[in-house]
Amino acid sequence: MNQSKARITALGSYVPEKVLTNDDLEKMVDTSDEWIVQRTGIKERRISREDEYTSDLSYQAVQDLVSRSQKQIDDVDMIIVCTLTPDFKTPSVASLLQAKLGIQQAGALDLNAACAGFTYGLHMANGLITAGLHKKILVVGAETLSKITDYEDRTTCILFGDGAGVALVEYDEKHPSFLAAHVGSEGEKGKHLYSSNLSNQLFGEEIQATSRIVQNGREVYKWAVTSVPKGLNSLLDKASMSLKEVNWFVPHSANLRMIESICERAGFPLEQTLYRLVNYGNTSSATIPLALNKAHVEGKLKAGDTIILYGFGGGLSFAGLVIEWGI
Ligand code: UT7
Repeated sequence: MNQSKARITALGSYVPEKVLTNDDLEKMVDTSDEWIVQRTGIKERRISREDEYTSDLSYQAVQDLVSRSQKQIDDVDMIIVCTLTPDFKTPSVASLLQAKLGIQQAGALDLNAACAGFTYGLHMANGLITAGLHKKILVVGAETLSKITDYEDRTTCILFGDGAGVALVEYDEKHPSFLAAHVGSEGEKGKHLYSSNLSNQLFGEEIQATSRIVQNGREVYKWAVTSVPKGLNSLLDKASMSLKEVNWFVPHSANLRMIESICERAGFPLEQTLYRLVNYGNTSSATIPLALNKAHVEGKLKAGDTIILYGFGGGLSFAGLVIEWGI
């Protein structure tokens, strides 16, 4: 792999104000706080207003990044928004964000790799900067999953929430963040987690033609707890590192039981694992930047720390990165 020339230099995040608790869900579907906490670890999630969309959450997350880091963003030359819940099919959320931020000379595109989106976005940003094509890139992971959640389906509506996180990735040859990447897809398993409104066929099999999220939770769970530990090994091999050298693990946070199982199978301590699902639920591409940003704000992350970010989910797809912390 090319020696990286890109560094993560600032972070920001935003979640909507409205809180949806497990008690609230008990009034909507046949479920209980006890079941949800026991099976997922989730207590509450944030829900966007009716008139609040992914571009709005993205904008607020960038404002947070700017106000806390004092970074200039008018010279950003690429905006990548990772999302599966864009405001429109076109224009892209990235184009809306470019206009809202008033950035003049930036490319803008959305990237959909579902819950692996943010780590794919960072991987792309590193590639573009290391190749010398761009110098300053905003990578946003933002979702308004509540807008495509079926609140009559107790197997999914207890899981999802809305939120956004952003990283600024800049050219830096001397202190690059990106040490190794391991990305992939198992498209044949796509039927286990989808949202469709155009096709009702997937590899010849009939599926629901609905834009709501449809998930076979059990299958996705089984896939994640077996494939992520294996993927971690491949990632560490590429970085020529052992798990003992890793200070923090930031997996996509969909379900706390799943994270516990992944840590146990991989042999990594849960105490060094960062996640935000207890209060935010599964926010897909936003879970990793939300967790990373909180740890950064709390001063947990030290310059030089080795961190594994690992996104996985719809596709089914995954993207893992080893980074060296440098903010
Ligand atoms: O970010 C994308 C990646 N997605 C994921 O990572 C999701 C992974 N999967 C999961 O998190 C879990 O599979 C779930 C939390 C979705 C479900 O937990 P589970 O332990 O796999 O439950 P299950 O689907 O096997 O269902 C067990 C029982 C069923 O009842 P019966 O058939 O045993 O009578 C369900 O109908 O629990 C029932 N159930 C519920 N009961 C109360 C399902 N949802 C609920 C609910 N409240 N909300």
